[in-house]
Amino acid sequence: MHEIKMPTLSCTGKCAVVTGAGSGIGQAAALMLGYYGAKVVAADLDFARAKETAFAIQDRGGDAIACRVDVSDAGLVRSLVDAAVEKYQGIDIFISNAGIGGEVAPLLEQSEAEFEKVLSVNLKGGFLCGKAAAEQMIRQGRGGRIIFTSSIAAMEGGGMHGPYGAAKGGLCTLVRTMAHEWAPYGITVNAVCPGLTQTAINREISEDPELYAQFVRKIPLGRMAPPEEIASLMLYLASDSAAFITGTSIVADGGATIGG
Ligand code: NAI
Repeated sequence: MHEIKMPTLSCTGKCAVVTGAGSGIGQAAALMLGYYGAKVVAADLDFARAKETAFAIQDRGGDAIACRVDVSDAGLVRSLVDAAVEKYQGIDIFISNAGIGGEVAPLLEQSEAEFEKVLSVNLKGGFLCGKAAAEQMIRQGRGGRIIFTSSIAAMEGGGMHGPYGAAKGGLCTLVRTMAHEWAPYGITVNAVCPGLTQTAINREISEDPELYAQFVRKIPLGRMAPPEEIASLMLYLASDSAAFITGTSIVADGGATIGG
């Protein structure tokens, strides 16, 4: 009989960098990876919030540092990788999660500046983080995991969020190219596509019962996701159990994109 290797989510001994770790999905992912044994670099534009996440991991007995990064700045992304390598001697998991929602308006009312801002953080940021992570993982020669936070807006288009939808769609395409090009180095690259998730980006919806009801009506499971229901998918993709998954974008949306 073939000896079945039982699945594990353990990240013990691995170093995980998480961007956007100061809040929402990124914070949940950082805490979860820390809980499962990873040494975590919690990175965010908001350094105070990144520190809160790192302290929370330490409080729970884990190992973590905080780092300030603007993912749209190549120099700062390189410094983030350098900080992780200096502290933990390498990077095994890179969660490129930081993102912004952008203005809520139809495309005809979106300005060039707004388009550039959203694409710069949500798409260029992913390119810079993926590239810097892969360069480091290739230097190390032991493979790695790169995981992006896209969105169901990648498939649906971003109704009133045109630039956001375009950026998230671009990320899903980048994932396929990266996965193809970096597979020879043992690096897997995937995206998660969350539906409506209870984080700061959606505070307005969570806090207004009427608006909440209006939004969840379109979700078969009838609710938003708490951030940990997205983070657990990232944890799975980062684990040894997901070793054969690469170049894909996995939806977690309570059925919102089923249609019908
Ligand atoms: P959030 O607003 O709670 O967290 C985003 C974090 O990213 C914040 O801590 C923010 O300071 C940080 N950030 C923003 N710009 C940055 C930059 N230039 N460099 C570094 N950090 C930066 O939002 P949430 O919901 O946790 O968002 C995380 C990711 O999930 C984003 O990429 C978002 O587009 C995506 N997403 C969220 C959904 C939702 O319903 N909340 C649905 C689908 C995707």
